[in-house]
Amino acid sequence: MAILLPGGAGYIGSHTAVELLNSGKDIIIVDNFSNSKPEVLDKIKKITGKDFKFYELDYLDKEKIEKVFEENKIDAVLNFAGFKAVGESVQKPLEYYHNNITGCLILLETMKKYNVKKFIFSSSATVYGEPEKIPITEDCKTGGTTNPYGTSKLFIEQILKDLYKSDNTWDICILRYFNPVGAHESGLIGEEPKGIPNNLMPYIARVAAGTLKELSVFGNDYDTPDGTGVRDYIHVVDLAKGHVCALNKLDKEEKGLFIYNLGTGKGYSVLDMVKAFESATGKKVPYKIAPRRAGDIATCYADPKKAKEELGWEATKTLEDMCKDSWNYIVKNS
Ligand code: WQD
Repeated sequence: MAILLPGGAGYIGSHTAVELLNSGKDIIIVDNFSNSKPEVLDKIKKITGKDFKFYELDYLDKEKIEKVFEENKIDAVLNFAGFKAVGESVQKPLEYYHNNITGCLILLETMKKYNVKKFIFSSSATVYGEPEKIPITEDCKTGGTTNPYGTSKLFIEQILKDLYKSDNTWDICILRYFNPVGAHESGLIGEEPKGIPNNLMPYIARVAAGTLKELSVFGNDYDTPDGTGVRDYIHVVDLAKGHVCALNKLDKEEKGLFIYNLGTGKGYSVLDMVKAFESATGKKVPYKIAPRRAGDIATCYADPKKAKEELGWEATKTLEDMCKDSWNYIVKNS
């Protein structure tokens, strides 16, 4: 029985593939390399010493997805496929809604056809919009998302809730990621955003590497300790391990729909991240204060208690680990 990973060659998918293989699971990756590279597959094999099946396909291609289910005994699906650039989603809403929502619907319809009902969905803290309280618990209201990327996650969460209500033999886990950063300690896999990075950590890393001139700090007049935005940065390997714990829960417990925040419970500001990166790597990160970025909120960090109690999972890697591993990936791949 194999675990199917649509988007498994991507940043979060590849790190989760490593942890699943390390935990003894058989996996199958399907990916169209729209936001990843073929060489990642060999790097996953090199890190783990394990082999796995791969199909190059677009998960929107229903016939090709069905062929994967025809040819393999699939036990569960962890869906990492999806566009995820907030800014780009504002420019290309139709592409984002089609790819993220239609793709997920095709996956779920195929799963239903082949009676595969264990599903783990990569959601995002973005679904909380402007959080009603900090730290954020899973019962906080969702909605008020400020971009099509976040709204697509919200819509898919609703689709999953309606699906479970219609058929409680489904076993569904919604994982709300906070801010994934860092890279595997080997430096073989990591974050490779196309073009100019939208997200803070890859931008800082490229300024440190000299490939970008300076960091623009988007606003220093927020209601936060130093005026800059506060977020819950979580090491991508901790995040990946959270998926293994979620799968273990679906494997052993009764059917259900479960929702968990995957965060550290600690908030760090933009300037905290600059200072942490400089001290962890010895590299300077020049920056300037720039206007606020549309759609940004002041503060967002998790209360991770529920995942600890119910999944037996908690993030263990430090901010220094996140910075060192991000830098190590840049050094090893430049
Ligand atoms: C973090 C902080 C910015 C860049 C989004 C999605 C989330 C997830 C991660 C995919 C904010 C500031 C950033 C820069 C800056 N998506 N910043 N200068 O917006 O919290 O979350 O990306 O995995 O679902 O919502 O992440 O890294 O873009 O921003 O000052 O050049 O850094 O204002 O305070 P965000 P981010």
